[in-house]
Amino acid sequence: MSPILLSLLLACGGPAPSGGPSAAETTLTARELAQVMSLSPLPERPPSPSNRVADNADAAALGLALFFDVRLSSNGAVSCATCHQPARHYTDGERVAKGVAVGKRNTPTLLGGMYSSWQFWDGRADTIWSQALGPIESPLEHNLDRVRVAHHVFNHYKAPYEALFGPMPPLDDRARFPEFGRPNPGEPQGPDHLQWTAMSEADQRAVNEVFANVGKVMEAFQRTLTPQPSNFDRYVAAVRAGDATGGGHLSPQAEAGLKLFVGEASCVLCHNGPNLADDAFHSLGLPTTPSEGLDMGRAVGARRVLTAEFNCAGPYSDTTDCPELRYLNPEFPDFILAFKTPSLRHVAQTAPYMHDGRFQTLDEVLNFYSTLPGEPPLGHRELTLKPLKLNDSEIAALRAFLESLSAPSPEASPPSPS
Ligand code: HEC
Ligand code: HEC
Repeated sequence: MSPILLSLLLACGGPAPSGGPSAAETTLTARELAQVMSLSPLPERPPSPSNRVADNADAAALGLALFFDVRLSSNGAVSCATCHQPARHYTDGERVAKGVAVGKRNTPTLLGGMYSSWQFWDGRADTIWSQALGPIESPLEHNLDRVRVAHHVFNHYKAPYEALFGPMPPLDDRARFPEFGRPNPGEPQGPDHLQWTAMSEADQRAVNEVFANVGKVMEAFQRTLTPQPSNFDRYVAAVRAGDATGGGHLSPQAEAGLKLFVGEASCVLCHNGPNLADDAFHSLGLPTTPSEGLDMGRAVGARRVLTAEFNCAGPYSDTTDCPELRYLNPEFPDFILAFKTPSLRHVAQTAPYMHDGRFQTLDEVLNFYSTLPGEPPLGHRELTLKPLKLNDSEIAALRAFLESLSAPSPEASPPSPS
């Protein structure tokens, strides 16, 4: 009897499934096997209580149109899809993002975003709909403002918008609604802020509502971007069905990598559950040179999400039940230089890696975990991390396992402009 079959029997206590001996050259302990089973399949998408159109197909269609609409940018050239490109698994292949200007962080994939409680590398948004509003007003990304966004919806998408949300405010009334404007307390004498504060509070609120709804339809679209089954999922399904070889869906090398991942290398401490991410923030202690400037990560993100105008607990949310926010303590010392654990689904397809895109290849990431060079400039490296001292064949095995998480992506293409 093959070792993997034996360990399966130990784990399940059942009779030997029929079939030939395992192709596996590795053994999984009962504990490792239980870990493996917990990584697949992805469950149904969780609900999004703060967004009442999250699962509405018409909202998703409007969100798709807006996702590709370059008119939602100051230079008429940037849409969400500029950086989240369907053909690149909703990333851009760049070290750091380039919108209207160059940013400081790497573009994450949007696949499976609905399985995360926090958006952005620092989790400064707690919903996918409020996340979308950040890049639209970011000077580095779309560089637009919410009043222009409301006009754009009014001029080009009024009918589908009103079918979902009811009558729009009279945005063609130029006495009440200026051409542009947004709150920008950092520059109180700037034109954006002056135009915004000249509006009545009720009209500001009406614009905010349109702006939030733009985020909500974009979320409805993004909720269609579910990661597709990978070879790893097919392997787990086969093992679960009693085929100890995993249906041959993983090579022996990838299987050895899987064993390391759930076993000695302890990757599952953080990359766990079917999204291969723990929904939490950790400092890996990536070395930083002073000239790069410090990115404080979650220490700043946690404060920002609590005070965010469009968070789950705010006036534009469709729920008041926001446990994640309620239990968030922004003073948690381990938030210093901590970033969100990314999902590893599709990871071989979404280089470069880490919040700042510092690693071009998976081997570079694995070499980092192997040696843990340098010290973080502030705070401390997550204490569970120890240099793994991986040899070349172990690195190759882990890489082969990570590659088994690849899958085709759901396609999306722009509808004809309206
Ligand atoms: C200029 C490139 C660029 C554009 C344009 C852009 N994004 Fe992003 N997106 C990024 C980067 C970079 C991040 C990570 C930023 C951070 O963590 O601070 C990100 C993060 C996200 C996230 C969070 C994902 C996660 O795993 O945390 C979502 C969701 C998202 N973007 C959706 C959108 C939508 C919707 C639009 C259009 C309204 C958009 N993005 C426009 C580059 C871009
Ligand atoms: C202590 C928690 C923790 C452990 C243990 C851990 N990771 Fe990570 N991993 C993270 C975090 C957090 C990031 C993002 C860090 C950043 O950008 O600053 C990350 C990033 C990555 C990335 C880059 C993904 C991307 O899209 O940029 C890969 C690949 C990765 N980890 C694989 C592994 C493997 C393989 C192991 C085991 C050898 C492992 N991780 C162990 C928390 C962890």
